[in-house]
Amino acid sequence: MKTVKLLLAAGFLLVLFSFAFAIHETQPAETQVPLPGADAAKLYDYLTRQKPYTSWELWPGKGKFYKGSQPHGEFLTTYVNEAALFGIKDGKGVMPESAIIAKENYGTDKKFAALTVMYKIKGYNPTAGNWFWAKYDGSGKVLASGKVEACIACHAKKKGNDYLFSGAMK
Ligand code: HEC
Repeated sequence: MKTVKLLLAAGFLLVLFSFAFAIHETQPAETQVPLPGADAAKLYDYLTRQKPYTSWELWPGKGKFYKGSQPHGEFLTTYVNEAALFGIKDGKGVMPESAIIAKENYGTDKKFAALTVMYKIKGYNPTAGNWFWAKYDGSGKVLASGKVEACIACHAKKKGNDYLFSGAMK
């Protein structure tokens, strides 16, 4: 009788372990992609290969090729990752850490001109909203990145809105 009980207990544990293992294995792969940090080349790789921004949500209420203003381009398409989408919706007035906004900029003929990105990194630049700024051409060449003064100077007009123009954060 004792052996039977032992065997049953062992069997039960085995089933439990295999369940735990199966659950672990089925974790969606994308949740395991680590964020790139303040590095423009790694960020580009993340945005185009690891976690393609073109499969993210668009900025709520904005479609593709909406009318832009200076300096970004005639037409814009703006994508937001999950953290940014959450930040737009939660009404707190600031984006959470790890929020990424990737905006495609097009000329008058809807010809792709550049990709501009804002990426919130905890503690990165506390005097200017902790945004990492980046601009790439069509081939992924980095045109500007980091604590880019030109970007910050203009976006500072929206300092009270976490440096964001596209929509009210509160
Ligand atoms: C002269 C002002 C100005 C400068 C300089 C500027 N931006 Fe913008 N940016 C805007 C405006 C205005 C918008 C809103 C979209 C639009 O209508 O063009 C915007 C929107 C954005 C957005 C979408 C999120 C938001 O704020 O609405 C990103 C991302 C962005 N800019 C990145 C950059 C980067 C990166 C740089 C520097 C390489 C930069 N911007 C420089 C004015 C500026």
